[in-house]
Amino acid sequence: MSARRARLGVLVSGGGSNLQALLDAAGQADYPAEVACVLSNVPTAFALERARKAGVRAEVVDHKGFGSKADFEAAVLGVLADAGVEWVCLAGFMRLVSADFLKRFPGRVLNIHPSLLPAFPGLHAQKQALERGVKVAGCTVHYVDAGTDTGPIIAQAAVPVLPEDDEASLSARILAEEHRLYPLAVRLAVTGAVTLDGTRTKVDARVTGDGTALRSPGAPR
Ligand code: GRF
Repeated sequence: MSARRARLGVLVSGGGSNLQALLDAAGQADYPAEVACVLSNVPTAFALERARKAGVRAEVVDHKGFGSKADFEAAVLGVLADAGVEWVCLAGFMRLVSADFLKRFPGRVLNIHPSLLPAFPGLHAQKQALERGVKVAGCTVHYVDAGTDTGPIIAQAAVPVLPEDDEASLSARILAEEHRLYPLAVRLAVTGAVTLDGTRTKVDARVTGDGTALRSPGAPR
């Protein structure tokens, strides 16, 4: 495809399986985005290996090396600017980004969270879901705002919670959906098929048809 592709900066802290899903999607000729840079605040994150293997710039900005959050974020922003990043995808990035950071990428910071938001924001979402006894769990891709997992929702996918589930089995089932959902949501965002509309998002029906692409395969039609 000759059209210009949006340049993503993917922020990670861990294994990077969602990063891998984005790298794989970006490997398709017709995908509208490329991964320009992967940045980890954890020097040992396996996600960095995934980036290098894909031939993508991999950078470490260790928050422990900075006296303040502002200084840490200034360093992160410096790397993103140098890499020509236009959109930021948080993918298991275990630091909250500040309002000042968001101002540098207005409406262009996305996150994936392993729950059906607004249920179970914050840490250990799958454990929270199990403890609450919900029968359906899932994942959400949303625009990032100044709150924790509170931004406008782009897409969600649901999975069943089975009686025998523990945190590991439920997390694995959700993760498989995350890998499908994040590339889809990024595609919608960077092509303008989804746009911000106050606290919600508007999805262009010409792209998504009847909207089934935004639901999990097993969800009711
Ligand atoms: C995922 O469950 C994601 O939703 C959450 O952190 C986890 C990261 O996993 N924010 P990975 O590093 O992408 O494998």
